Amino acid sequence: MQNSLIFRTAIAVCIIVSSFATLTKHYDISDDRLESLFKNWLDQHDRDYNSFAEYQQRMIVFKENYIQIQKMNEVFGHDMKFELNKFSDLTEDEFRNTILMRPQAPPIHSPSRFMKVENVEDLPASFDWREHNAVTPVKDQGSVGTCWAFSTVQNVEGQWFLKSKTLTNLSVEQIVDCDGMQKIDSAQADCGVYGGWPFLSFQYLIKQGGIEPETAYPYCAGIKTPCEPCNAPGYNKTLCGPPIPFCYIKDSCESKLDSTKFVSNLKVVDWKAINEDETTIANALMSTGPLSVALNAEMLQFYHKGVFNPIFCNPKNLDHAVLLVGWGEEGSKPYWIVKNSWGTSWGEQGYFRILRGKGTCGINTQVTTAILG
Ligand SMILES: *[C@@H]1O[C@H](CO)[C@@H](O)[C@H](O)[C@H]1NC(C)=O
Ligand SMILES: *[C@@H]1O[C@H](CO)[C@@H](O)[C@H](O)[C@H]1NC(C)=O
Repeated sequence: MQNSLIFRTAIAVCIIVSSFATLTKHYDISDDRLESLFKNWLDQHDRDYNSFAEYQQRMIVFKENYIQIQKMNEVFGHDMKFELNKFSDLTEDEFRNTILMRPQAPPIHSPSRFMKVENVEDLPASFDWREHNAVTPVKDQGSVGTCWAFSTVQNVEGQWFLKSKTLTNLSVEQIVDCDGMQKIDSAQADCGVYGGWPFLSFQYLIKQGGIEPETAYPYCAGIKTPCEPCNAPGYNKTLCGPPIPFCYIKDSCESKLDSTKFVSNLKVVDWKAINEDETTIANALMSTGPLSVALNAEMLQFYHKGVFNPIFCNPKNLDHAVLLVGWGEEGSKPYWIVKNSWGTSWGEQGYFRILRGKGTCGINTQVTTAILG
């Protein structure tokens, strides 16, 4: 197992190195130009560091990313573009370890979990829930691994819109702070800022009996003046890793959760999975509402625009959860439209498009939705 993993990583590295070996241009940047580019970027992203040493170290990372982005644009530029963005001072490892979740195989669900989807014959060439006003504005998870809570909440927002005809931002922080659900037999757990799964969150919402609106229980993990909540009740150290070293009770679920503030009549009563067939997923999306999905997002760090379809992207290593809102075609290339939680400055105004119909990056392997009562 370990050996085959190393072998696979080696293959991946070879593919990337060999495709970059054919690059025609030589990329470099003068120190002056680098420093002015970096200073502009710091202003633009309101970033400052604790020491000059850190500033210098971050500038080196920034330079490596700058060169890497140009190489990626040379290799992939006809399909998708990459750009300097808010993640430009993070190494690939830092990005994976803080923003993404630990890569895991797609959870398997029992056959009775799966939604019975009727495939219509005349599926439209494009469809977009944003045009039906079913999607709230793009959010920003900040510098922690809470994507799974955003994916969950945004699916429920869509379900609630379809039921009540009102679009409401629901509380992501409630999920991050309070949801410590786990599935021991398959070693999956909700771990606050260290990752989790929408299908488990739906189970938390069923058990909890409701969710507060964002205004009553606002997001505060991983943003500039962060809250320091303790781990959720039920947090499993074996599955999630060591708990947060320092936290405040006043910032935690036990102090903040107020069931009198739950959105009235919003009750999650069940959840469903949708099978991997991407035509079935499109049918389910159109008939059900925006869906929670997960994918391997290693290569999304510097995504700017276009139909995402990297040459190497292991569909069995899911490390990011997002929201599927629609589909379309660009020329002859079918794509999904996906809402991310990295702010509106990232990607296509906070969204990305990814190739549809080929299981790209595992986007079809963990499609789930809450069912409201
Ligand atoms: C939701 O939150 C955003 C800010 O993230 C705000 O602009 C918007 O008006 C809020 N309300 C709705 C219904 O989307
Ligand atoms: C945490 O997960 C481990 C491994 O799956 C399991 O053996 C253990 O019982 C769990 N702990 C709690 C407190 O549920």
